[in-house]
Amino acid sequence: MFETRVLSGMRPTGSLHLGHYHGVLKNWIRLQAEYPCLFFVADWHALTTDYEKPADVQQTGLDMVIDWLAAGVDPNQATLFVQSQVLEHAELHLLLSMITPLGWLERVPTYKDQQEKLADKDLSTYGFLGYPLLQAADILIYRARYVPVGEDQVPHLEFAREVARRFNHLYGREPGFEDKAKAAVKKMGTKKARLLNELRTKFLESGDAAALARGQALLDEQQNLSRGDRERMYGWLEGGGRKILVEPEALLTEASRMPGLDGQKMSKSYGNTIALREEPESVAKKIKTMPTDPARVKRTDKGNPEKCPVWDLHKIYSDAERREWVVKGCTTAGIGCLECKQPVIDAINRELAPIRARAQAYVDDPALAKNIVADGCDKARKLAQESMRDVREALGLAYP
Ligand code: TRP
Ligand code: SF4
Repeated sequence: MFETRVLSGMRPTGSLHLGHYHGVLKNWIRLQAEYPCLFFVADWHALTTDYEKPADVQQTGLDMVIDWLAAGVDPNQATLFVQSQVLEHAELHLLLSMITPLGWLERVPTYKDQQEKLADKDLSTYGFLGYPLLQAADILIYRARYVPVGEDQVPHLEFAREVARRFNHLYGREPGFEDKAKAAVKKMGTKKARLLNELRTKFLESGDAAALARGQALLDEQQNLSRGDRERMYGWLEGGGRKILVEPEALLTEASRMPGLDGQKMSKSYGNTIALREEPESVAKKIKTMPTDPARVKRTDKGNPEKCPVWDLHKIYSDAERREWVVKGCTTAGIGCLECKQPVIDAINRELAPIRARAQAYVDDPALAKNIVADGCDKARKLAQESMRDVREALGLAYP
């Protein structure tokens, strides 16, 4: 009924690294070709944990967007924007807070987890408790269908679905809903109306999902429906009320397999990263100083790639032939570790060269990136305002 939109947000962390690239960003780049996508800087979210000492979110947010663009996120395909510049997110958050039971928020697993993990911060605030609801508002305001996120965010998506369901349940039942829905169905013409009725009965009586899908397809084909009628008919088809908000689905981003410089997962908090804008000399230096199999003290000592974090990088960057060369050379002491590392250095620098060059263009002229974001904010705001019209109307807040 609504366009199949994809939406995702990232807290402003400043410059991104290879782990982000191989995990999140490549996924975004794939999605932007398939769906209308919205990607945003979650700057309000950053304040929920860092209110005591706010980071410079304007700068770190912009740096992050530059890295998105440098990695290949295309502003002609995707809408890039900043959360705090679309005030409607806050309005929806407030309105949803009226219907959200406290227990739902207290039960979100990240609430207790994060409080324990970030024990040095005081997270007993209203804003922190409401974090998942703000995230739900971010998603629901665009009626996004798919939300690419990591595994840790899946409970937040489930929560957003429950909030949407509750909202539709409470406010989708307008007075005279059945009559209005039936009148809208009638307007389709006798034949189609009869078919739609049959499909609905099939779905409601036997849970026939194919019948529901056919009914939805039939509605999709209908031109010239008003938004209200559209929402009513889709809801009626499923036996519910008007569908004002859409229940989003998580698109699980495969955990990045990108190993860091020390064999642990690449992560800023481990200090084992290679940034997307890392200079070639710095890449070389970082790889050259990586630990290797501790058994190889001397050049003549034989090693075992399975005990070496450099091998993990070969698994990502080297073809079968090169990997054979590593295994043979390492286990027979035929090659030295520096020799073994050189192809990795070259491969990473080859991968980063175009990214670095694209980033440089935006660094040289920051107005370029700022304009992209400003355009994105305008586009996002228009979409957000469309849904807010329906939401306000449903709550009796549509002042003339
Ligand atoms: N909570 C997400 C994270 O920490 C960031 C985020 C905020 C988000 N709002 C969102 C992600 C909406 C997806 C959709 O990673
Ligand atoms: Fe690691 Fe390569 Fe040295 Fe073997 S030769 S220990 S795989 S760096």
